[in-house]
Amino acid sequence: MNFSPPNISSGFRSLMTSLLFPLKTNKIHNMHIEQIYTGCLAQGAYYITSKGEAVIIDPLREISPYLERAKKDNVKIKYIFETHFHADFVSGHIDLAKATGAAIVYGPTALPEFEVIIAQDNQEFKVGELTFKVLHTPGHTMESTCYLLQDKDGKDIALFSGDTLFLGDVGRPDLAQKAAHMTQEDLAGLLYDSLMNKIMPLADDVTVYPAHGAGSACGKNMMKETVDTLGNQKKMNYALNQPDKNAFVAAVTEGLLPPPGYFGMNVAMNKKGYDPFEKVLKKGLTAIKPSEFEAVADSTGALILDARSNRNFVSGFVPQSVNIGLDGDFAPWVGSLIIDVNQPILLVADTGREAETVTRLSRVGFDHILGYLQGGFQAWEDAGYDIDTVHRITPGQFESLVKIGTDKVIDIRKESEYAASHIDGAYNKPLALINEWIKDVNPSEHFFMHCAGGYRSMMAASILQARGFRNFTEIEGGFDKISKVTDLPKSDFVCRTKVMSV
Ligand SMILES: [Fe+2]
Repeated sequence: MNFSPPNISSGFRSLMTSLLFPLKTNKIHNMHIEQIYTGCLAQGAYYITSKGEAVIIDPLREISPYLERAKKDNVKIKYIFETHFHADFVSGHIDLAKATGAAIVYGPTALPEFEVIIAQDNQEFKVGELTFKVLHTPGHTMESTCYLLQDKDGKDIALFSGDTLFLGDVGRPDLAQKAAHMTQEDLAGLLYDSLMNKIMPLADDVTVYPAHGAGSACGKNMMKETVDTLGNQKKMNYALNQPDKNAFVAAVTEGLLPPPGYFGMNVAMNKKGYDPFEKVLKKGLTAIKPSEFEAVADSTGALILDARSNRNFVSGFVPQSVNIGLDGDFAPWVGSLIIDVNQPILLVADTGREAETVTRLSRVGFDHILGYLQGGFQAWEDAGYDIDTVHRITPGQFESLVKIGTDKVIDIRKESEYAASHIDGAYNKPLALINEWIKDVNPSEHFFMHCAGGYRSMMAASILQARGFRNFTEIEGGFDKISKVTDLPKSDFVCRTKVMSV
């Protein structure tokens, strides 16, 4: 076969409604607050109703769940509040405004290329008996804004804190440096002022509803919980407990990993607009017969993305396809490993999950899905076309084959996972950086490769093979299984040379 090499570059949870689930609801104070949390993106959208009116805060790209919910509740969506120009997902604000007539609201200084209300600091918006007060809180980005919900008596009830205040963390101040013409230290200083002047004076019993939770690349130290009181955050959030501004700036800028490559492109889509989701979904659901699949790939330069589990992928896949499993942090990994959101993509998915796959790709702006392999990989195999496989061994086989200190072992987990414990002598080459370290792989030198459980190492294996590297062996179940079933020597000593060198 002569497929184009995948265009992959640097870097590291419905339809759809089954993946969008209300995690927390609050029906006190004659209002309804619902957090709609999407695990894959660690993202919280919010649906709030009062007296027949509703507001959606930071909606995801596909809007049918919100429309269906509003219809069921017989409420009119009046406003769409955006806390900022999101970098890690494409929001559904534009499609939702078109579908409902609701007004999109951004905070001060936002300059989107579509019709919106640019709110003033302290401006108030009425929704039923509720009031949403705009608190401009620059720092994560210049237009970053929190929405303070007050009941009919004017009591502060909840703070929709966007990426300004997370649980256990605050938004990273480095993403907007270029757009703001500022350093991350300048932005961190602004964030400190926003938190101290706008958030800290609020009452301890105000509920904090952030835009992200643990696992999001928009912060670095988030709690696993997704709702908390402001009083508890005042006590335990490291960023809110720094002695002064300088200490705050130092603390929030320390240890930031490079942002995933797709962040800038998602910001641009959120600012400039995008194709309607229904159009993207329709195109992506074009069924392509096995007999035509290769020709389409050849003529379009499309990357073949196989979204099946690593357990299914390992024993057979369309040559040169890249595996990023749907049952994991699918969208963030796609965004981290595929360099360009405009990359044409052909899908191989489990039959019945094609629409879910296209939807989750569009959440991070990958809208150019040309279609999917009709009948899935089974149809390809049944038709007798070439297949490829990955050489995977069990931890027990690994234990009997490997000569510690002599053989090369590559651990592709994050540096922090590696630092906690790793196989003696293993090199740390995080998956997020594969498009950098792949340049230094010596094709004549065999290596063993593992991650934590097999999800990431299969992605790496597929990328390596698509680039022509085959002289490696991947280990089933990763470090978790290796630790349980083998007696291989381990270390928690971080050898910097090994982390940094090839
Ligand atoms: Fe953000």
